[in-house]
Amino acid sequence: MRQKLIIANWKMNGSTVLLERLLPPLVRTSVKPVQVVVCPPMAYLAQAGALLAGSRIMLGAQNASEHNSGAYTGETSVTMVKELGCKYVLVGHSERRHHYGETDDLVADKFASIYKAGLVPVLCIGETEAERDANKTREVVLRQVDAILEKLGPCALFNAVVAYEPRWAIGTGNTATPEQAQSVHQMVREHISEADPIVARHMPILYGGSVNADNIADLLAMPDIDGGLVGGASLESEEFIDTCRAARLLRNSMEESLP
Ligand code: PGA
Repeated sequence: MRQKLIIANWKMNGSTVLLERLLPPLVRTSVKPVQVVVCPPMAYLAQAGALLAGSRIMLGAQNASEHNSGAYTGETSVTMVKELGCKYVLVGHSERRHHYGETDDLVADKFASIYKAGLVPVLCIGETEAERDANKTREVVLRQVDAILEKLGPCALFNAVVAYEPRWAIGTGNTATPEQAQSVHQMVREHISEADPIVARHMPILYGGSVNADNIADLLAMPDIDGGLVGGASLESEEFIDTCRAARLLRNSMEESLP
């Protein structure tokens, strides 16, 4: 069975006070066997690492440079985020593609740095509303996946996570329906399976885009949806804990129903 994952993407939100408020209650809540990952802004990774120390919750970064060190003002390397305790790194988030012009090629280079450092890349993919309306969802998301497969080969995806986040669902309250999300997840998994069936079978594919405590269970009930990448709802302590709990309950009930 694939690992169920809930990843909190705080984006450029938070403060030292918010960390003190959000993380201790999360640490006290057992949501085993779901793996919870928190990705605060870079500036708070050290503080978050200290607050999460000794817990099952893992730390992630929202971005990392494709370079290891050097004259790259304002950038943070994978070695640096690793030293701060990160295990996961988001790569190719649509806000980075959109606001900072990150191309598929750059995303593949960043992905390579992350996995070579032994960290787990969380490759974000997804189409815009116009692309969906033009029936280009398949073309767009598979192109984003192929950028990794063609440059790095399927083995690079072995210890990776994919997060399907349709751009029209991010921060809008318009979640994709479980069926819409499932059909893209299945398409992505089948595509990766053509390159390497074992990688495809084991790789968690998360859904992101207005995920919250009310819709996570229906999404996770789909066979190819293995968790959620949660933005806005991860900034409210109760809401995020309830989201993780809903994911845990679902997994338990699925395990109980197994023969
Ligand atoms: P959202 O963001 O949950 O606020 O839609 C998700 C994301 O961008 O990762």
